[in-house]
Amino acid sequence: MKNLEDLKGVGPATAQKLRDAGYVSIEILASASPYEIAENTGLPIELCKSIVEQAKEEINVEIMSAYDIYQTRQSVSRITTGSQKLDELLGGGVETQSLVEFYGKFSSGKSQVGFQLSVNVQLPKNKGGLEGKVIFIDTESTFRPERIVEMAKHKGLDPEEVLRNIFVLKPQSSEEQIIAVEKLEYKLKEDNVKLIVVDSLTSHFRADFIGRGSLSDRQQKLNKHIHTLQRYAEKYNLAVYFTNQVMENPGIMFGDSITPIGGNVLAHAATYRVYVRKSKDDKRIARLVDSPNLPEREVIFRITSAGVTD
Ligand code: GTP
Ligand code: MG
Repeated sequence: MKNLEDLKGVGPATAQKLRDAGYVSIEILASASPYEIAENTGLPIELCKSIVEQAKEEINVEIMSAYDIYQTRQSVSRITTGSQKLDELLGGGVETQSLVEFYGKFSSGKSQVGFQLSVNVQLPKNKGGLEGKVIFIDTESTFRPERIVEMAKHKGLDPEEVLRNIFVLKPQSSEEQIIAVEKLEYKLKEDNVKLIVVDSLTSHFRADFIGRGSLSDRQQKLNKHIHTLQRYAEKYNLAVYFTNQVMENPGIMFGDSITPIGGNVLAHAATYRVYVRKSKDDKRIARLVDSPNLPEREVIFRITSAGVTD
């Protein structure tokens, strides 16, 4: 997808005005009204009309028959989380061709679920796996091979082999993270990767773009990053599991004051969005927040020394 600056009549200053007003991508411009853009940016209406027209031309509309979609959906398969309850919440486990987000406070178990999936995806199909390999993007240096060994043993897998099948990337900034994900496609082509874990998706973005001025820039980069992951999920029939932090909204008096990071861009990015929080002892509560076809509800699972269980 092109940059805003590639549109005729849009120089750096105009692009900045558009971004500041929230029009961070060509897709967003294509579905906006020229009058609304003019009002929000102060740009001349004739220019806004031309921008929207050009943006619409840039969008490729791929028409598929329902049969094609049905055929593609037939190849969707699932990875068990290790907890039957949690699998049920997700409609039978973590789906390929989907993005699954777990967000929650520290120690809620987001990384543990990522480790467990990295082991479970390697199980045979009759045990809830896909006999597939893993790309693990560790942005917070919290990946623990020792924990993988422990979980692999409990599943009756050879720990050394399990570790060899997990390819770990440790990007040091949001730029490195974006480039790492764009460059890893060759690995998806040559290896049977069935799971990409991004733990966490947002921490670098959050740290690298402090202050309101660069918020739209951050949203735009995050948007592009998430689209790359979506494309991989569909093209290579694999699952993407990513974690996300939360912020507290002290202004909210009633209901939950916890909101995930990432704003609008992430709000609808994941196919399954799960809010996870700590309960008594090793219990965790997972709530399905956003899903195309499943009701919002909660289940309880546990994180024990054996890993994720009921
Ligand atoms: P942040 O990355 O800090 O936001 O947290 P997170 O949600 O990723 O938490 P994480 O998945 O790292 O969960 C950590 C928690 O899992 C610990 O506080 C323990 O309760 C539990 N845990 C981790 N390892 C073990 C283990 O070996 N045995 C048991 N029983 N529990 C463990
Ligand atoms: Mg973590």
